[in-house]
Amino acid sequence: MIKVAVIFHSVTGTTKQLAEAVTAGASSVPGNETMSFEIVGSDIVEGRYRNSEILEVLNDVDAMIFGTPTYMGCVSAQFKAFADATGELWAEKRWADKFAAGFTIGSNLSGDQLNTIQYLQIFANQHGMLWASLDIPGNFDSENRNRLGAQSGLIAHSKDGELHETDLITAHYLGQRIAKVARKFASEK
Ligand SMILES: Cc1cc2nc3c(=O)[nH]c(=O)nc-3n(C[C@H](O)[C@H](O)[C@H](O)COP(=O)(O)O)c2cc1C
Repeated sequence: MIKVAVIFHSVTGTTKQLAEAVTAGASSVPGNETMSFEIVGSDIVEGRYRNSEILEVLNDVDAMIFGTPTYMGCVSAQFKAFADATGELWAEKRWADKFAAGFTIGSNLSGDQLNTIQYLQIFANQHGMLWASLDIPGNFDSENRNRLGAQSGLIAHSKDGELHETDLITAHYLGQRIAKVARKFASEK
């Protein structure tokens, strides 16, 4: 049984909607257990992420999909607090060889969301994780998925808090893809 975890932060709920679609996509792949964790304010005490129970669960999964709003061109402070709390796990290589992917949203069409995805990739690679891209060629998909054309991860856009249906479909696909990739390589273990 493959384990896939979606870990996200959201304030006004748009990233959360994407996270739910990603989770549903991963859950739709047979032979895997999908879990979802929201980074909430009470996890952070005096600026430090303190939810060691969630970190413990993450040590045991095969793949993680990270989600955060784009805030000032990068991940939110809450997501960064989570990332910083994994420093000891980094030293022990606890997350090495797990798959990782990411998604983000911003209220500007080109609101520097790519920098957020690139940070998530660097974070994953610091841990020795294997970054999985979004393999839907932008502008070449019959359903217009990946409508904003990022290949490193899912970038979504919402001006008013309403999610674009295509972004939710793309998020569902991203979850499916990561669950399938993790299952494919787990058979090699
Ligand atoms: C402090 C702050 C900084 C933001 N910075 C950006 C940004 O750099 N680029 C962008 O496109 N949107 C930016 N936004 C808009 C949010 O990314 C957008 O509203 C997003 O949908 C919020 O996600 P959430 O609903 O999951 O909280 C910012 C919003 C806030 C509150």
